[in-house]
Amino acid sequence: QGDDQRRAAPSSGVPATVRVRAPGKVNLSLRVGAVQDDGYHPLVTVFQAVSLAEEVTLTERAAGAGILVEVTGPASDGVPTDRTNLAWQAVELVAERAGVDPDVHVELHKGVPVGGGMAGGSADAAAALVAADHLLHAGLSRDELHELAARLGSDVPFGLLGHVAVGTGRGHLLTPAMTRGELHWALGTRARGLSTAEVYRTFDERGPGDGSSAAEREPVHVDQDAELLQALGAGDTEGVGRALHNDLQAAALHLAPELADVLTVAERAGTLGAIVSGSGPTVAALARSPRHARAIGAAWTAAGVVDGVHVASGPTHGARIVHSVASDG
Ligand code: C5P
Repeated sequence: QGDDQRRAAPSSGVPATVRVRAPGKVNLSLRVGAVQDDGYHPLVTVFQAVSLAEEVTLTERAAGAGILVEVTGPASDGVPTDRTNLAWQAVELVAERAGVDPDVHVELHKGVPVGGGMAGGSADAAAALVAADHLLHAGLSRDELHELAARLGSDVPFGLLGHVAVGTGRGHLLTPAMTRGELHWALGTRARGLSTAEVYRTFDERGPGDGSSAAEREPVHVDQDAELLQALGAGDTEGVGRALHNDLQAAALHLAPELADVLTVAERAGTLGAIVSGSGPTVAALARSPRHARAIGAAWTAAGVVDGVHVASGPTHGARIVHSVASDG
């Protein structure tokens, strides 16, 4: 893994710092029920954490200095550095629980495509929760971290947990799933992101694309993913490819019709299954091997249908500390 977990001996003048890595995700299945009174949709989803990850580094600042957010990495454009950033809110929530002032420098290194349906912002929030808990000595339990995560966003609890899990409720109630083997993905990204809320609104207007109406949908149920879960447990990659499913795909395709070409090119390149990831616009194409994933990516680039290509594998771990230095406190 190359993870480098160490705690340096206290030395004078060195501010405490902690770095946490948290994964992006692909929804192997995403089933969406009719919108509820609170504006949210009941979901049944199967998440897989993948090797595109965010790294969040928290460093203590002088008393009274407050929170400062900085963003680095290949895709940092358009990421807010003010209070609307979920990592900022995560640090605030933990500081409040710990009863201390949030005097913290937050550095976000973005490895997950921004606004792409892979929960990069949620991964930042999950990482910031774990990092702030450590840096501010909040001593939060797993359950408390999970509760704060669910407050920050529907996908944040999965960023804490990682691996593969079935999500219900808003996607925040998680049950880990047993899986065998690794999946290899080609991920095609688009420069212009899609708004999750707008994709859900389009789903409400147009339904899942099979002719049924969004308002009259049968309640979603985890049994609908029996084949997928069976294939994951058996390490049957072709079976996983056949069972990939996304109820939001038709809505994402309506808002970004070009995505149809991304799916078609992946199919021509022999993908085992291609879907829009979450609310899109990233397309995830399941490959037979890392080499096949690179070939699918090359086909996308050659066809000029994507703005960026990533190759990733999963499952991978949830938010975890990869480096920490204690202060001389
Ligand atoms: O929970 P989060 O803030 O990540 O959700 C972003 C938006 O996605 C919500 O404002 C809502 O419009 C939509 N959403 C939904 N049903 C869910 C999860 C998200 O309608 N289960």
